[in-house]
Amino acid sequence: MTHYFDAVVIGAGAAGLFCAAIAGQRGLKVLVIDHSEKVAEKIRISGGGRCNFTNREVTPSNFLSENPHFCRSALAGYTPQDFTALLQKHNVPFHEKHKGQLFCDRSAEDIINLLLAECAAGHVERWQPCSVKKVTDLGIKSDLNPINTGASSYQIDTDRGLIETPHLVIATGGLSIPKIGATDFGYRIAQQFGLRMVEPRAALVPLTFDGDAWLPFAQLAGLALPVQIETGSRDATPKQRKKATVFAEDLLFTHKGLSGPAVLQISSFWLTGQSLRINLAPGQDLSHALLKAKASSKKLIANELASVVPSRLADAWASTDAALQRPICDATDKALLSLAERLADWQITPNGSEGYKKAEVTAGGIDTRDLSSRTMESRQPGLYFIGEVIDVTGWLGGYNFQWAWASGFACANALVASK
Ligand code: FDA
Repeated sequence: MTHYFDAVVIGAGAAGLFCAAIAGQRGLKVLVIDHSEKVAEKIRISGGGRCNFTNREVTPSNFLSENPHFCRSALAGYTPQDFTALLQKHNVPFHEKHKGQLFCDRSAEDIINLLLAECAAGHVERWQPCSVKKVTDLGIKSDLNPINTGASSYQIDTDRGLIETPHLVIATGGLSIPKIGATDFGYRIAQQFGLRMVEPRAALVPLTFDGDAWLPFAQLAGLALPVQIETGSRDATPKQRKKATVFAEDLLFTHKGLSGPAVLQISSFWLTGQSLRINLAPGQDLSHALLKAKASSKKLIANELASVVPSRLADAWASTDAALQRPICDATDKALLSLAERLADWQITPNGSEGYKKAEVTAGGIDTRDLSSRTMESRQPGLYFIGEVIDVTGWLGGYNFQWAWASGFACANALVASK
């Protein structure tokens, strides 16, 4: 027996569940398929278990994509205020944490329950765990399609049976955290139908370092401090620097390198071989502080440095240079000015990242040139992509979930309109 649905969504994550719920509530017969036993595992583990589900301020400039304008229409069509209104309807308490980031007061489970309740309200059917073996474009309208739209149909061969549908939505996300179900399914479907891809890469991910230059900092694991961070080298032209995205956030030293919000943010922009520029004492006039200390103090340079950066970092920094292992009053002005400059513009080159095992998202994905920014339908009629599988990647701070809601909503509207 072949099952017929008006729309089939593959991937019961944030984007898939939301899209299915909206389409179901507007009268479509919708099926969601996921190969995992549990739905929305990424929501469950997000935001330290409290899910940073959106941000008060969301603009296209908070996203990376080969086409920075692609996300504009969907983001305008479903805003953070729309999503918070939905939370209020479900009596889900939430709070703002930092820079507009909105989190659940209780647990990320609240968001999952909300999505499942919305799906139930739309009579959305769910098959899980369910593996998709094959997707075929039948090229003709399904005999099972009650409305003669002339649209072609997809046949989906699953381990629970055959399905036919005129609308196939791919919401299988990116490659990060394979142990909770991430796969390259969406990319393979794109390849099958000749759609272009932007090379995927791990993003919002800790960066790793090795070599002699890193050695003094390798014992600082656990140390956190506020920094300003950007990619690029000291040779960058003023024009290049002006264009660079700069983040002012906390940096965390780890056993393998650097993490914390500052590094996760910049990792999405970082390309292999590029260096990072880090101001380890933002907002401080280091030259002035060191020269002033020289005039009045007999302490070691490292001890004086400890008044502007954490003492473990001051010690590590002083250990890199014999000229810094002396009382500050014995240092030359030139040496102190150079020290101030290097601390305010620490340039180091990661050797890589911790990869998809630790990445919060995947940058790159389905090339937006092959998608409609209004409907998320691809050049292949009836085939849609939503959420993280697309080459649209949000900054840290709730932007990736907002993209999941907004792209899912745009797609659901298009499904309803084309029935
Ligand atoms: P998502 O990954 O949510 O869902 C994809 C679904 O497809 C999964 O259920 C998966 O099982 C299923 N699937 C995959 N392959 C399949 C196949 N072959 N067959 C069938 N089903 C398949 N973002 C944010 O805005 N705020 C935050 O606080 C966080 N925090 C966070 C923490 C951690 C640890 C991670 C890893 C990620 C975040 N994120 C985040 C990012 C956010 O989780 C992510 O961008 C969204 O979940 C993407 O939603 P999607 O629905 O596109 O994919």
